Amino acid sequence: MTAQQDTVTIVEVGPRDGLQAEARALPAADRIRLIELLVDSGLKHIESGSFVSPKWVPQMAESDAVLRGVPANPGVHYPVLVPNLRGLELALAAGAREIAVFTAASETFCQRNTNCTIGESLQRFEPVLALAAEHGVPVRGYVSCVLGCPYQGEVGTGAVIEVATALAAMGCYEVCLADTIGVGTPRRARALISAAAEQLPLDRLAVHFHDTYGQALANVLACLEIGIRTVDSAVAGLGGCPYAPGAAGNLATEDLVYMLDGMGLHTGVDLDRLIEAGTFICERLGRRSQSRVQLARQGRGTRVLT
Ligand code: HMG
Ligand code: MG
Repeated sequence: MTAQQDTVTIVEVGPRDGLQAEARALPAADRIRLIELLVDSGLKHIESGSFVSPKWVPQMAESDAVLRGVPANPGVHYPVLVPNLRGLELALAAGAREIAVFTAASETFCQRNTNCTIGESLQRFEPVLALAAEHGVPVRGYVSCVLGCPYQGEVGTGAVIEVATALAAMGCYEVCLADTIGVGTPRRARALISAAAEQLPLDRLAVHFHDTYGQALANVLACLEIGIRTVDSAVAGLGGCPYAPGAAGNLATEDLVYMLDGMGLHTGVDLDRLIEAGTFICERLGRRSQSRVQLARQGRGTRVLT
């Protein structure tokens, strides 16, 4: 393996995708503390908030205060989600240096999530990408519901590829294909990424799996085997999407790091420190971690076999 193939970039989405769907909205100070702990663990890409309407997602209110409070560390990226030009202006005012836009491969989901069609969402992004470029701000693009939709059910590969290539063509440096409701299985996930890779280079694609049916880690492995090297996950397996009923949390970052460590793939993340971040946030939320690694380390099955 080359050095590049040997390394996996983890995009930690807990402070955004995780916390946006938790019943308990946390104050900015707790969200900043979580991000500090994640930085201490070695994570370099930490999605830190959303500049969306607080009426739609109250948990992400005060994302400006969060962004202003994150550790000033030149090696760490703190992307934030923006749905429109207004969101970008607010994000820039709060010091955002990287953003993500989001749309879907399912019309109904797009409508429920952002009150517009897929085509309208792409039109909204044009001025967003133009202003971001003026400020030298890189933009990631998300496509939701790539392996199924909570409202429409089946989602065709063609629809996913069409939206993904549109995002790339308008200037997104990376397109993240997201299984929002966690219904995908490894062969389907791999087939989708293979099809996308016929249109876009693999190093411009990322994967984002929710763990609703316990398939997220297997799906990641299937995609790693064909060369994917950027993977999203959330500490403690937090979250879901407020507009995707029934969707469980993201793949837990602890479980991802444990698997990648075991495969000899480098992430730069210290698992013990990551577990500290997971413990902190679960205490603040008053909930149990969804990470199997965290639970194992808490006392059950702690014997390590080598
Ligand atoms: P709308 O109601 O159609 O928009 O919402 P509007 O332009 O009519 O504005 C309505 C109100 O929102 C106005 O305020 C605007 O000023 C305000 P009012 O006059 O009523 O007081 N507003 C804003 N406020 C703050 N920031 C903004 C903003 N824009 C308008 N940027 C809108 C359209 C897109 C704003 C709304 O639908 C929205 O905020 N949606 C966000 C939904 C969301 O965040 N979902 C979760 C993230 S996506 C996800 O989780 C999936 C992902 O993880 C990948 C995966 O797993 O699939 C990425
Ligand atoms: Mg998500």
